[in-house]
Amino acid sequence: MEINALAAYQSGETLKPYSLNPGQAQNYDCLIKVLACGICHSDISMVDNEWGQSRYPLVPGHEVVGEVVEIGSQVKHLKIGDRVGVGWQMSSCLQCRDCLKGNENLCNESKGLIVNGYGGFADYVALDSRFAFAIPAGIETEIAGPLLCGGITVYSALRHAGMTSGQEIGVIGVGGLGHMAVQFASKLGNKVTVFTTSQDKAEFATQLGASHVVVVPPGESPPAPSRQLDIIISTVPQSLDWGAYLEYLNSDGTFTIVGVAIEPLSIPLWPLLSKRRRIMGSPIGGRAMIMEMLSVASNFGIKPIVETFPFEQVNEAMEKVRANKVRYRAVLTVA
Ligand SMILES: NC(=O)c1ccc[n+]([C@@H]2O[C@H](COP(=O)([O-])OP(=O)(O)OC[C@H]3O[C@@H](n4cnc5c(N)ncnc54)[C@H](OP(=O)(O)O)[C@@H]3O)[C@@H](O)[C@H]2O)c1
Ligand SMILES: [Zn+2]
Ligand SMILES: [Zn+2]
Repeated sequence: MEINALAAYQSGETLKPYSLNPGQAQNYDCLIKVLACGICHSDISMVDNEWGQSRYPLVPGHEVVGEVVEIGSQVKHLKIGDRVGVGWQMSSCLQCRDCLKGNENLCNESKGLIVNGYGGFADYVALDSRFAFAIPAGIETEIAGPLLCGGITVYSALRHAGMTSGQEIGVIGVGGLGHMAVQFASKLGNKVTVFTTSQDKAEFATQLGASHVVVVPPGESPPAPSRQLDIIISTVPQSLDWGAYLEYLNSDGTFTIVGVAIEPLSIPLWPLLSKRRRIMGSPIGGRAMIMEMLSVASNFGIKPIVETFPFEQVNEAMEKVRANKVRYRAVLTVA
């Protein structure tokens, strides 16, 4: 069979049709018919080869929701017709120390769907079935995709930063990732302070669950929020005034970074040392945490707010993401 996809043939180019042959599903493989696919900022960064790891033709799309149409002989946890989601990761070794601890996302042999394979801007996606996750019935197809990359990335980062309940959480940037971070943190019983460059998002933030909003003009340092924070998460794809944000953490507070800024971090030591604060980065999330996140989203009614586009309008949708005009996640859907 042929997969009909949309690919960038060179760095920064608009997407054009591309076809590929996935071969027969063997052993643990599965083939998924795509029903919807979110557009993450990482798709843009990969098309533009910002991280130096892109191969062309590159088929973006790693917030995939679809229906299982073919499985290999060893697949037991999925059956034909199941509705599943797929995120950034398409496989890992499943045997190393990280994999055995449930941190498949940290595996040295982790493979990314749009780095080592072909993504969901296509009619079908092929991958290791052990990285396809059943979607709870209460989560609609067109909003499920963004949970599989954006949702798990902020959920895992906040959990590993120590988020429980009753804390003060700061979220920088209210894009695809950030608007889900606000929902996870607030619905789990925390007070959320949002830092945003966009006036309309500042006005909408309380409806997402924020208690406090700080407007930060682009390129400027953030003014002090009305309260000190236990955890701050940065979802911004740019360097920020890191030192200023560190000052807004409580003692023993954690600054967790998921947005990808290219430049090395320049951090003043004193705000870290004097209050025993920490900085961490966090990539996507392991399989156990993906399943936990899907349950939390379903049980607490956490719903990505999406703007849908037919697959044929992929280039217009990507331009809108680049311009920070989407409210809050673009999702391609089958007409
Ligand atoms: N760590 C991981 O595993 C992982 C996973 C997925 C994505 N990512 C990365 O996370 C980042 C966010 O992805 P996304 O899909 O959420 O992107 P997005 O939807 O474009 O949102 C990013 C938000 O950052 C803010 N922003 C953008 N430019 C800014 C600037 N110059 N100064 C201050 N704020 C700015 C904007 O929020 P406001 O309008 O509110 O200011 C924007 O909506 C990207 O770098 C992406 O590659 C990382
Ligand atoms: Zn992503
Ligand atoms: Zn491994």
